[in-house]
Amino acid sequence: MKNRFNRLTSKEWLPFQKSWFRYDTDEKLFKENIRFFIREEPSEEKLFYWGDKEELVRSVCATEDVRMVNISTFDDQPLQFAIFDLRNTLSIISYLSEYEDIKLNILTLCEKIFHCLADRRFIVIMLPNIVLDGKYYPVVWDMALQLSSIFSLKDEKIACTSEPQIAQNKHVFTPNNKIFYCLYFRKDENSGGRYKERHHQLFKYNEPLESKKKFTHSIPSWFILKPQPRKKDEILHPAKYPEELVSMFINEFTEVDDNVFDPMSGTGSTQVASLRAGRNAFGTELSDFFAAIAIQRCQNIVQPTQIDLFGSPNKQQFSILHKDAREITKEDFPMIDYLITSPPYWDMLNMKGAENQAKRVVKGLQTNYSESTDDLGNIADYQQFVSDLTKVYLNILDIMKSGSYLTIVVKNIKKKGRNYPFAWDLTDSLMGKLILLPETFWCQDDINLAPYGYGNTFVSNTFHQYCLNFQKP
Ligand SMILES: C[S@@+](CC[C@H](N)C(=O)[O-])C[C@H]1O[C@@H](n2cnc3c(N)ncnc32)[C@H](O)[C@@H]1O
Repeated sequence: MKNRFNRLTSKEWLPFQKSWFRYDTDEKLFKENIRFFIREEPSEEKLFYWGDKEELVRSVCATEDVRMVNISTFDDQPLQFAIFDLRNTLSIISYLSEYEDIKLNILTLCEKIFHCLADRRFIVIMLPNIVLDGKYYPVVWDMALQLSSIFSLKDEKIACTSEPQIAQNKHVFTPNNKIFYCLYFRKDENSGGRYKERHHQLFKYNEPLESKKKFTHSIPSWFILKPQPRKKDEILHPAKYPEELVSMFINEFTEVDDNVFDPMSGTGSTQVASLRAGRNAFGTELSDFFAAIAIQRCQNIVQPTQIDLFGSPNKQQFSILHKDAREITKEDFPMIDYLITSPPYWDMLNMKGAENQAKRVVKGLQTNYSESTDDLGNIADYQQFVSDLTKVYLNILDIMKSGSYLTIVVKNIKKKGRNYPFAWDLTDSLMGKLILLPETFWCQDDINLAPYGYGNTFVSNTFHQYCLNFQKP
C-alpha cells in the first residue's frame, strides 16, 4: 500500500502508534513527531513551532529537510504540521489566571493556524496537568476540550518519564514520576474552525483532605504490570482487570481491615485482591453469571478447602450482591473506606468487528457482559451512558466515608473515526461532588501493535488506561 501520509516505512510507522512512550530527549521527541507528520513532497514541507525550544526544532528541521515558518511568514503555501510546546511555560506559572491567559493566546493562534493548515493535517500540543497551591488542575483536559471546537480531537500519547515528582505533603496522595501529554488534532470535515467556549466543571475544586494515612509513593504516575495468566473461569469475562492492579492501589489507599468496594465487580478481581491483602471486600454485579464466579472466587479465599499447615483461614468479610449498581442503598453494605472499579467502556464490546472481539467469537467466548437493558454497556447514546454512570458513582457516595478515596479505571474511546474523551467527560461530570487527585496510567506493554491508518492518517493503538483518583470531601 502506498504511503500518502509521510515518508516512513511500515516498520517505522508502527512504533509511533503506541499511545504511550518512554520520554528520552526533546530532540528525539521532536524528530519522531516531525518525521511522522510531515509529508514527502519537499516544496510543501512547512512546520510551525510555538515554544521555548525553537533552536532545537530548527536544527531537527534542517536534518529532516523541513522548512520552519514563524507566525509572520504564514503565506500562500499551506502548513503541514504545527507543534505547540507548553511544557515549560506551564511549569512556571503560579496562578490559574496565568493559565487562562496562555490558553486564550493559544486558542486565538489556533484559529489563525486553522486557515493555513492543509486539509487532514495535524497539530500537536504538548503539556502536563498542573498543581497550584496544593490543588490539582487538569489543564490538559481543559485545553483539549476547548481546542476541539477549532480542530477535531483525534488522539493522545502519554510521555512517561522517570523524573521524580516532589511531594509537598505526604498526607495527600501524590504519585511519583512525571508524565506529560501529546494531544493530536486534525483539520478535517468535522472541525469547526472557530473557538467556542465549552463550559465544564473541571476546575470546580475543594481542598484535598489530609488522610489518616501517610502515603509512601508506592504508586508511580505510570506503571506496567506483568499479570498472572487468567484462569479458566476468569477468561469467561470479556474485560477483567488484573488483581495486581488492585493490590497496588489497595496498599496505598487503605489499611488492614478497611472496607473496599466495587459496584461493577465482574469476576471479583477487586474483592479477591482485597481479601488477599487482609481487607474486607464488598460489591455489586448486574450479571448473575459473573456475580456467581466472583462469589465463588472469594469463597475459595475465605474458606479454602485446604488450609496450609502454617497459615490460617482468612478472617475477612465479603459480600457481593447480584444487583444493579444504581440501586445500592445504605442498608446493603457497611460504610466504605475505598472504592476501586472499572465500568463498561460505553458500548464498545458490542462493536463486533474489533480484533479482540473476533478472537473471542472464534473461541466461543461471550463478547459482551449481557443482553440486559440495565447493563450500562448496552446504552448506545454516549451522553446518556456518561450520565447514567455518573449516577452510579454519586449514589455510592452515600455509603462512603468522608475523606475516603476512589479509583476509576477507564479509557478515552475512539469509535467509528471519532474520539470520545470518556475519562475527561466522566471526571467533568463528577467534579461538583468529588476532589480530583493526580491520575495514574496503567501502560500496557503486552499487546501487539496494529498498523491502523497506515499510509493514510494517524490512529494510535490505545495501550494506556486512566486510573482516575478522587477523594470524597
Ligand atoms: C469492566 S467490567 C468489570 C470487570 C471487573 N473489574 C473484573 O476485573 O472482573 C464491568 C462490569 O459492569 C457490569 N455492569 C454493567 N452494568 C451494570 C449495572 N447497572 N450494575 C452493576 N453492574 C453492571 C458488567 O456486567 C461488567 O461485569
